Amino acid sequence: MNDLFEKAKEVLPHSYAHYSKFKVAAAIRLQDGKIITGVNVENASFGLTNCAERTALFTAFTQGYRKEDITEMVVTTEKDYIISPCGACRQVMSELMTPDALIHMVTKSGKVTTVKNKELLPLAFQESDL
Ligand code: THU
Repeated sequence: MNDLFEKAKEVLPHSYAHYSKFKVAAAIRLQDGKIITGVNVENASFGLTNCAERTALFTAFTQGYRKEDITEMVVTTEKDYIISPCGACRQVMSELMTPDALIHMVTKSGKVTTVKNKELLPLAFQESDL
């Protein structure tokens, strides 16, 4: 977990939080040991903002990884309180990560709250609902 947190902190300054000034970074661990990071990228058309969690997951999928390859994710900010993934990210995480993947929400100073992916969005809309 600590190495993921360090990688997330490394990219946090790259966050493009031009409007909210609320920088978020995520780091995910793959089974092969690789770590992939992401930051939030905002837009003047606010709804087009991409959160850090989705940036990291979409990057992993772009590189050919799939949900079984992802073991855990760290999400962090510049704040000294926990922030948890937004609803849109939870929906995406419910499909692109396994139910038992660990989500570590980490404060600036390193305090950690960990939950399983499946705890974030009970009754998620999913493929079997189509
Ligand atoms: N944000 C994330 O990147 N992840 C979250 O889990 C919550 C919110 C971003 C979106 C926006 O750029 C900023 O934080 C303020 O909402």
